[in-house]
Amino acid sequence: MSALRLLCCLLMACCLSEGKRIKGSRGSVTDPEAAVRPQEPRLSGSVFRLFLGGEDTCMLDPLQLHTLTSCGFNSSNPLIIITHGWSVDGMLESWVIRMAAILKRNLVDVNVVMTDWLHLAHQHYPLAVQSTRTVGKDIAHLLQSLQREYRYPVRKVHLIGYSLGAHISGFAGSFLQGSEKIGRITGLDPAGPLFEGMSPTDRLSPDDAEFVDAIHTFTHERLGLSVGIKQAVAHYDFYPNGGDFQPGCNFHNIYEHISEYGILGFEQTVKCAHERSVHLFMDSLLNEDKQSTAYRCSDNSAFVRGVCLDCRKNRCNTLGYNIKKVRTARSKKLYLKTRSRMPYKLYHYQFRIQFVNQTEEIKPTLIISLQGTEAESGELFITIDEGIHGNTTLSFLITLDKDLGELMMLKLSWEVSEMWKNVWTRMQSIFPWGGQRSKPQMMLGKISVKAGETQDRTSFCSMNNDGQQIEVSQDKVFVRCREDEPTRRRRKHSRLVEKNESVQQTK
Ligand SMILES: *[C@@H]1O[C@H](CO)[C@@H](O)[C@H](O)[C@H]1NC(C)=O
Ligand SMILES: *[C@@H]1O[C@H](CO)[C@@H](O)[C@H](O)[C@H]1NC(C)=O
Ligand SMILES: *[C@@H]1O[C@H](CO)[C@@H](O)[C@H](O)[C@H]1NC(C)=O
Ligand SMILES: *[C@@H]1O[C@H](CO)[C@@H](O)[C@H](O)[C@H]1NC(C)=O
Repeated sequence: MSALRLLCCLLMACCLSEGKRIKGSRGSVTDPEAAVRPQEPRLSGSVFRLFLGGEDTCMLDPLQLHTLTSCGFNSSNPLIIITHGWSVDGMLESWVIRMAAILKRNLVDVNVVMTDWLHLAHQHYPLAVQSTRTVGKDIAHLLQSLQREYRYPVRKVHLIGYSLGAHISGFAGSFLQGSEKIGRITGLDPAGPLFEGMSPTDRLSPDDAEFVDAIHTFTHERLGLSVGIKQAVAHYDFYPNGGDFQPGCNFHNIYEHISEYGILGFEQTVKCAHERSVHLFMDSLLNEDKQSTAYRCSDNSAFVRGVCLDCRKNRCNTLGYNIKKVRTARSKKLYLKTRSRMPYKLYHYQFRIQFVNQTEEIKPTLIISLQGTEAESGELFITIDEGIHGNTTLSFLITLDKDLGELMMLKLSWEVSEMWKNVWTRMQSIFPWGGQRSKPQMMLGKISVKAGETQDRTSFCSMNNDGQQIEVSQDKVFVRCREDEPTRRRRKHSRLVEKNESVQQTK
């Protein structure tokens, strides 16, 4: 047994020595001897590194502040501190350096520092959690030294923390004494286990900085636990794709990954959705022209009904670095859909279709295509699960990876299952006198589409004024209602006359 354990330790040490940035040995609950090791110069042992460029960093010593200047810290510039999360393999994940490089490249006059707390993070999860306050305190000490020595205002500090790093950043904020708060904290999928449901002082919370934002990407719950925290912890909490899971990280891949890569495959898949928060944040810096908008909503099921695409009174905001920093009294939950890869931006459209006097309950499948001044949507298949009966207004959300521009035309067709088609065909042959009328029809009322990104709502009217009814399998074309053109709004009266005439002409 002990031989086996020794072998394990050796194996582990071998693997770990391949890592570039590792310090100290790995202590763990099952292996208490390993915890006995030469002490780090500081008790807690967080290490701060100023990012210089490429792979180069310079170690800062908060106790010897002259190291800051010699490293090239510029106290007239803002400071961003990136803090990593729990570590399974004891290595710094590659996104940390990448994020630092992107921040430095985009913002130029900025100090980017990375918190390295790997030897505490590379422990069993509960132990790593216990260290989060300590590491938070280390960051607070660093900031206090800066305040003292350089009169550095902490409101120029932006802490970015991933997973456990998000809560560390929160603790750093709450440890700072004095009236001035940290400027901003961004929590990237803040860790869930042992933080969910805790009081605001025991996790990242809006009190920890002037402005706090969080991106929740992996809150999918299993056995009552989720990797990322579900509850709102910031002023603005973003839940891309509902927050529980992310496109392109599909679960059926888990088994493929595990069979191919063993348990590391599992880790990759778990990391996919968790780490998506990081990539969404980077995306906001890398694709300036493709900023993702998110919309305030009570929950994701309301969001996918399309009813939340409203930007009045700061109900929407920009995901990532360029967020509008509006302080709010209560946490706001914002939702959006994204693509499965960078650039993640999608354009959101809410459809509202009114059904009038529907005598039989139907669950139609609609095939819709939209044409705008910039692009066409292509065919979109909408399956409606809720039965439509009587007068119903249906609302649903469509997302597209391109901006259609001003909406001009909508093509709609109504498909039913083959079985129903057969029934209707048979009915027609039994009751031939029914003629055209026995073909099932739907009567549509108002049709409108709202684009979330532009906040424009467009109403559609049938093209030839031939009424709003639509038959099975008929391709019906609707165009932007004339009243809808803002430039012509003032000439409304003359247009009505025009319309009246055209109706008479068709008679
Ligand atoms: C610090 O940054 C500012 C720009 O924000 C620049 O003008 C100044 O020269 C920099 N100082 C040093 C010592 O590099
Ligand atoms: C709907 O049915 C009512 C009677 O139930 C009728 O008065 C009304 O004209 C119908 N409306 C349309 C748009 O067909
Ligand atoms: C549906 O709306 C129409 C007017 O658009 C109205 O005449 C009709 O009575 C309504 N039917 C029901 C069942 O409410
Ligand atoms: C439409 O035409 C009718 C005559 O057919 C007329 O009485 C009515 O006033 C016209 N409506 C408008 C809005 O001009």
